[in-house]
Amino acid sequence: MPGAPSRRPGLFMVGLDGAMIGRITLTRATGHIRQAAGKAELGNLFLPQAWGYGYAAEACAAALDRFAGALPGEPVVLATQTANVRSMRLAAKLGFIEVERFEAYGAEQWLGEWSSLTPSD
Ligand SMILES: CC(C)(COP(=O)(O)OP(=O)(O)OC[C@H]1O[C@@H](n2cnc3c(N)ncnc32)[C@H](O)[C@@H]1OP(=O)(O)O)[C@@H](O)C(=O)NCCC(=O)NCCS
Repeated sequence: MPGAPSRRPGLFMVGLDGAMIGRITLTRATGHIRQAAGKAELGNLFLPQAWGYGYAAEACAAALDRFAGALPGEPVVLATQTANVRSMRLAAKLGFIEVERFEAYGAEQWLGEWSSLTPSD
């Protein structure tokens, strides 16, 4: 994966006008979701004041593009609660396809998968 050779191989800080507004991770999923274990997993966390402008979508798309260049054809998974409407919308916009829904941590979870070989729109 792009980035430093460590347990957190892909860490992208997202800036706007010189300030950090979010971070994106591309890491090897551990066993927290059995179906995702060992796969590349996309994580994202943006400051609430940066929501609603498309910044996360633009930055995640760039990170996925970089990933696809480094590991062509390798899928990426994304997990989120279904109640996280913004996260669900972002996943769909990026081209993640539902793999399954399941109960964990007291809520319904969603697991999606993306591949650079699948057109996103
Ligand atoms: C998940 C998260 C990154 C989504 O952020 P977001 O800003 O909603 O996502 P996007 O970048 O896709 O932005 C979409 C919004 O920008 C709007 N937008 C405004 N200008 C835009 C533009 N030029 N281009 C695209 N979208 C634009 C869209 O209309 C949309 O607004 P809406 O949601 O009100 O309809 C954010 O909510 C977050 O950090 N949450 C906390 C962490 C988290 O839950 N992470 C994921 C689960 S593990």
